This record gives sequence, C-alpha cells and structure tokens, in this order.
Amino acid sequence: GMKFTIVGAGSSYTPELLDEMAMRKEQLPVKEVMLYDIDEKRLNIMEGFCKRFAEKLGLDVEIRATTSLDKALYGADFVDTQIRVGGNRQRVKDEKIPLQYDLVGQETTGAGGMMKAFRTIPVMLDVARKMEELSPEGWLINYTNPTGLVTEAVTRYTKANIAGFCSGGIFPKMWAKRALGIPYEQVQYDYMGLNHMNFISNITINGRPVTEAEFEKIAAQNDDVDLELIKLLGVIPSPYLQWYYHTNEKVAKFKAAPKTRGEYVQDLEKDVYAAYADETNCDKPEALAKRGGGGYSEVAMGFVNAVYNNVDTKMVVNVPNNGAISFLPDSAVVEVGCLVNKTGMQALHVTEVPSMCWGLVAAVKNYEQLAVEAAVEGDVRKMKLALLAHPLVRQWEYVEKLVPELLEANKEYLPQF
Ligand code: G6P
Ligand code: MN
Repeated sequence: GMKFTIVGAGSSYTPELLDEMAMRKEQLPVKEVMLYDIDEKRLNIMEGFCKRFAEKLGLDVEIRATTSLDKALYGADFVDTQIRVGGNRQRVKDEKIPLQYDLVGQETTGAGGMMKAFRTIPVMLDVARKMEELSPEGWLINYTNPTGLVTEAVTRYTKANIAGFCSGGIFPKMWAKRALGIPYEQVQYDYMGLNHMNFISNITINGRPVTEAEFEKIAAQNDDVDLELIKLLGVIPSPYLQWYYHTNEKVAKFKAAPKTRGEYVQDLEKDVYAAYADETNCDKPEALAKRGGGGYSEVAMGFVNAVYNNVDTKMVVNVPNNGAISFLPDSAVVEVGCLVNKTGMQALHVTEVPSMCWGLVAAVKNYEQLAVEAAVEGDVRKMKLALLAHPLVRQWEYVEKLVPELLEANKEYLPQF
C-alpha cells in the first residue's frame, strides 16, 4: 500500500486531498495518510476532521498525525508539501511593504513574493534533503509558493524527486468548462512560461481549434486581465499577468482596499477552522470555496495516478527547462506541458512562443534565478540584483529602501542571512 504524507497538513486545504483520494480509490491503494505540521493545534483539528471526513467518504485509509518530520517522511511514496513559513501574518507584510512604495504587493509576485521565497526555501531544502535519506524513491509534490522558485531551489540543490504544481495549470480547462460546458478531457492547449508568468495558446476541443467566439468566451473567464487586451494578444495570459499589464490600476485598487488579500484570508480562516474543529461536523466548510487554491488536489492526485499506475498523462508541471523553451537556460525551472508517467515527467517542447511575451518571461526568470541563489546563500548583494532584474521593481531608488525594510520585517524567518 501507499504512504501519502502531507507536510503542512494543518492547512485548510488538506481535506481536498482526501476527497480526491476517495474519488480515485479504485486506482490508488493509499494505505496510510500521514499528516505533519509544526502547529500542533491546527494539526489536531485537521486530524480529527480528516478522520470524520474519511469515514463519511467511505475512504478506508489509516490517518495518522505527527510533529516529527523524520517520521512523516520515512518510507513515504508521495510527499505533498503545502507550507506557509511565517503564516499569513508574514504574507500581509509581503503585501503591505511594497504597496507603501506604490509597487505591487502580492504573496508570490514582486518583492513580497521574493521574501516568501527567502522564508520558504531553507525549510523546503531541509524537507528535500531528508527525503534523500528517508524516502529516496519518493516523490515530492510541491504546492508551496512561490512554487517555481521552490522547485528550482530543490532541483538545483538536492537530489530529491520533485514536481512543482499550481492550480493554474488547469485554469483554462476550468474556464472552458464554465464558458462552454465541455468536460476537461476534451480541452487541450499549449502552455508556456513560468509559474504565475505564463501564456496559453492553440486551444483545441476534441482536437479541433476553437473558434474566435469560443476563444472569447473562454478568455472572458479570466476576469483579472482585460478582455480587449487578451483578444489583441491572441493568447490567454495567466491571471497573474494583471500585475504586469495593469500595474498602476491594480496597485491603486489594492492600496485603496480596506484589507489586503492576506488579511481577508486571516478573517476567513477563523470561520474555516471553527467549522473544522466542530466535532459534529464532517463536511468541508463552505468558506473554503472562497480561497484561491481550490482544485489543486485534483492535479496532485492526477500526478500520483500517472506515476504510480504508469499512465501517460499530459499535465502542466514546473520542471527544469532542458531545452523546452529555447531562450532560457537549461537549469531554469519552467511551467510547461509535460508527459507524466512512472519515469517522472518529460517537458514537451514549446514549438510556438507568442511574440510579445518572451522578454517578460526571460526577465522574470532572470529575477527568479538570482532570488533562488540569494535565498540559498543568504547573499544581500544577490538580493539587490534580483530586485533590479525584476520588471516590477527595477529602480535602484526602490531597491535601496526596500532591502533593509524587507530583511527587518522577516528577520525571525531568515536564518541564512
Ligand atoms: C491561486 C494561485 C495559488 C495561490 C492561490 C491564493 O490559486 O495559483 O498559487 O496560492 O491562488 O489563494 P488565496 O485564497 O490564499 O488568496
Ligand atoms: Mn499558483
């Protein structure tokens, strides 16, 4: 039987994975689900809820919980990581500090995203290095943001098997389903770029290219980027491109908002955990649907099925480039369509690079590689270079002021600096 470990299992997303396991129980012989977290209170709540939830789902697995990382990783076939180092308290700082300078303040994008990477990468390297010893054959399924930078750090500095994911990989399928009522299996597309910096093109339904009207209906589901702009591009950008194509408008909007997204999530979590803690409750709280990461478990368990049962599956994964995108270094982790099976994943060559986006992709990768090195080495000079390379920061006047402020705000979580 399979041992499936969840690192950061106190997260409110955990039950989604059980849901997906129940749906695939004929295909996936999960014997043990091991919940690991450093937050004992949340871990206990989730252990209790997961046991009730599994029973309700008719999912016959042994659910265990531990605060020992070694026990959690030992002999694991799959390790799903979904941690948030410093919690939402630090996320709010990532959002607020850049906004003070009229710069994008967001959990994965811009200077805030870099700080999230700095807090997270040392912890994730620790998990990966332990897996080299305790579960060398196991697969690390990473959902920890910023997933592109985390995946690049783990692939460059450890030997652990890692696949980096984002629910964004199936957004176009979700959009097509919502807009046209067609099931996922019928929708295919080319996917090119990085995590939260990508473009989809050549959408087909049952192998035939979408019509212009269908394209517009699908594109209209991406309500963060202007539809006229998407029509002009001819490819659909990730919703995160709002920060690049509508920078001033979005910064003004988020500065004026009474709360940041992180503060909103903190409020939401009060209700979510109260519902999870209620021992008479065995349903996922409704408020969970207001979180952005929904759907990730479908992708995660799809990967498990592809690997464990050796079923060739096309999925969007964060993987080392190795030539898939011609203008990026081989070592660069990119988010592209891959063929997944027992041997792991093989990036599909990107045949067509949309003409106006390769500069942005290259610039952001330039930032990401410097940020990963800064995170691993604790190097302030590289931190500055990374921010100078970032198209959303770039100016020295900002970098000079931001660096000491960001380091100070994160000092409890940056042992490497
Ligand atoms: C999207 C992104 C995830 C991110 C989530 C944030 O799904 O792809 O990477 O974690 O949104 O959702 P939240 O509810 O935390 O704002
Ligand atoms: Mn994501």
